[in-house]
Amino acid sequence: MSDKKIAIVTAAAGAGIGAAIARQLAADRMRVVITDLHEGRMAKLSEELSGVVGEECPWFRLDVGDHAAVESVFGEVARRYGRIDVLVNNAGWSKIEPVAEMSLETWQKCLDIDLTGTFSCMRFALPHMIAAQSGAIVNISSISGWEMTTEHGAAYSAAKAGVMALTRVAAAENGKNGIRVNAIAPGLIYNDFLRRIYPDEFFDTYLEKKARVNRLGRPEDVAHLVSFLVGDKAGYITGETYGVSGGVHPHA
Ligand SMILES: NC(=O)c1ccc[n+]([C@@H]2O[C@H](COP(=O)([O-])OP(=O)(O)OC[C@H]3O[C@@H](n4cnc5c(N)ncnc54)[C@H](O)[C@@H]3O)[C@@H](O)[C@H]2O)c1
Repeated sequence: MSDKKIAIVTAAAGAGIGAAIARQLAADRMRVVITDLHEGRMAKLSEELSGVVGEECPWFRLDVGDHAAVESVFGEVARRYGRIDVLVNNAGWSKIEPVAEMSLETWQKCLDIDLTGTFSCMRFALPHMIAAQSGAIVNISSISGWEMTTEHGAAYSAAKAGVMALTRVAAAENGKNGIRVNAIAPGLIYNDFLRRIYPDEFFDTYLEKKARVNRLGRPEDVAHLVSFLVGDKAGYITGETYGVSGGVHPHA
């Protein structure tokens, strides 16, 4: 059994927020278990994190939309390390189609990954946290769950709003178990993948017309808040959703 805290981060091997969270929690001396749909970068990131932590930070291929697979991976982590202390639900997917034209497939896939995936991971992490009477969960939502906009598509916005509600109820249920559950709603967080899919004007307009600080968001901006929320200094904070949007969508 490890004496370091065990933190599971989903979708940790992408281009952005997940990998930054995994690196931050490793820097916080947690043993980070990384999962992602794509195996590509996981082995490399796992090696990097293991070097920082000084103990193996394993990786698992995991489609969070597959409830049985989530049960199996979380069961294996608990068997191996005897604990799950921290869970960060970062996996997200979207396809922008207007409601009047959206396929059921798009709606379902988005809800399966963004909302049901978050539920499944919480479903199979919480019993271990309840047994330990301790734990912290952070769900990565989006300001799209607050905004009235056509920018993200209704499936994504609905799923991310659902993540906020799921966060509040799970927090209400589990505070007495020593478990805190919070969410983060990022605004635009730049990564190389987004640079490939959006034209330069998209970022320029965002900077000129939307951001209230003079730069785009960085994955580390979200990772820093995760680090705080899962730590002892946030001991009186649960059920909240915090924006990280450079002032694009302040929430009160
Ligand atoms: N980048 C932004 O501007 C932004 C803004 C608001 C919210 N978010 C949210 O932040 C989270 C991270 O986004 P990011 O843009 O930093 O990307 P990221 O690179 O951290 O995550 C994308 C990863 O999700 C993985 N993924 C996709 N489907 C999956 C599935 N079914 N199971 C497991 N993993 C899967 C991909 O393999 C990829 O590695 C997402 O939930 C996203 O909705 C991002």
